[in-house]
Amino acid sequence: MEVLNRSHALINSRILKGNLNLKNIFIFSVGIYVIYVLLYFTYQLFFSPLAKVPGPWYCAISRFWLAKASLAGRRIFAVHELHLKYGQYVRIAPNEVSISEIESVKKIHSSQNNFSKPEWYGVVANGVKSAFAIVDCEVHKARRKAYGSVYSNTNISLLEPVIRRHTNVCIQKIKRDLKHGPVDILRWFRFLAADIIAELCYGNDMEMLSKEAVNPIVEDLTTLLTIGGVRAEIPGLSLLEYLIGFIPHPTIKTITSCSQRIFDYSDKVLCDFQHKIQKDSSNCYAPYFFTRLVKNMDNPTEKNKLTFEELRHESTANLIAGSDTISTTATYAIWAILTHPTVREKLERELEDLGEEITDAKLNQLPYLKLVLKETLRLYGAGPGGMPRVVPPGGWRLGPFYFPGGTGVSSQGYTQHREIIVFEDPYEFIPERWANPTKEMEAHMMPWGGSSRDESMEFANYFNIKPSGNLCEVQRRTLS
Ligand code: HEM
Repeated sequence: MEVLNRSHALINSRILKGNLNLKNIFIFSVGIYVIYVLLYFTYQLFFSPLAKVPGPWYCAISRFWLAKASLAGRRIFAVHELHLKYGQYVRIAPNEVSISEIESVKKIHSSQNNFSKPEWYGVVANGVKSAFAIVDCEVHKARRKAYGSVYSNTNISLLEPVIRRHTNVCIQKIKRDLKHGPVDILRWFRFLAADIIAELCYGNDMEMLSKEAVNPIVEDLTTLLTIGGVRAEIPGLSLLEYLIGFIPHPTIKTITSCSQRIFDYSDKVLCDFQHKIQKDSSNCYAPYFFTRLVKNMDNPTEKNKLTFEELRHESTANLIAGSDTISTTATYAIWAILTHPTVREKLERELEDLGEEITDAKLNQLPYLKLVLKETLRLYGAGPGGMPRVVPPGGWRLGPFYFPGGTGVSSQGYTQHREIIVFEDPYEFIPERWANPTKEMEAHMMPWGGSSRDESMEFANYFNIKPSGNLCEVQRRTLS
């Protein structure tokens, strides 16, 4: 018995010792972690090459603030407010600086200077590896070359009949509905833009105008970009999404499988298009965006050609880039015109003599319309957010600061377009300002890259912008 008791006591003391050891290890690990975090914060705040760049201390030590703003759909406003407070160079994250000084912005976006896109784009694009998300500058150039001149004005003018056909249908349907009450033009412009871009890509629209309903693929495209925009700011969200994917809930399944559905759709339309082109003896599909790409796929002498896998990525990217962007900006254009009676009157007077048939050539002759559209793009271009780039190896001096290679530098159109020393009353919709623009005004306009009081029309910003009410109702004028 004595022996037994002794051995019990021995075992207990060993367990206790073991516990103590575990406890010590835990305390030691926490201590090391705290010291590491403190050293990291101290380095970022005082010794990092970016320590001299103005900005709030919390941005210098973590991306949490940026992630929070992105999650709330307020990234561009939050960064803009920092610019107003701290100036043209602001440190918005430990390794990222937002720049609004135009000379530096031009340097960052000049293709000669090889500031590459960061992996951020790949995350935003949710694995869609198109020209939009390609990081390597040379690979990106080759990808753009593969398209040839499909996006040129000359080529687009060949496709004008397609654009006009859809636009006429859209206008007739809006007019029809206006007889019965208010019409949500954002909804109609979504139908219009998606039908046009799909047909310009591969000769088949999305049947949204004809069916008067959103094609589920377009919903998927919007979901993909919205989630991507948030995911890119929140490290670890991908893992969370992966785990959530195991929950057998229909809504979750719909969201997590949206990129697969988009790829399936792209595969189908590309195959159909390939068959159409093969039978097209009159070459009538020549100007369509994907004709050259599809034909070159099997061309052994073509240097810049894409595989079918690459084509499905480009297809998805074109649908994303060319649908909600156009519909959002067009909606804001109409809304801005309708909420500014003098602009509306001037424009109506200019449009009076246009006649029944509206062509691009006729519209190009309308000076006031051009001013209105330019002002719309200044205030309501659909991609006003920070477009990040990475400083090439060797580093760069931009303005008063030196940035080592690998530093993230971004510039956002939202801030450039509202630079108070360049634009008088920068938040006001004044098309007339473009009648005699200064050189600085032109230089600051970057709607393609590189306010309002009505709450539902305030931007929600998840990569692209859109009215936060997700609608824009207009109604017929009652003439007194
Ligand atoms: C109002 C309409 C539009 C706006 C405001 C807009 C804005 C932008 C912006 C700001 C970027 C630059 C992204 C960056 O530098 O990181 C971009 C890129 C792009 N946009 Fe648009 N866009 C519009 C319409 C379109 C349309 C109709 C297409 C046609 C397919 C299109 C295709 C693209 C493509 C392919 C890229 C990626 C270019 C590359 O990196 O090589 N966009 N767009």
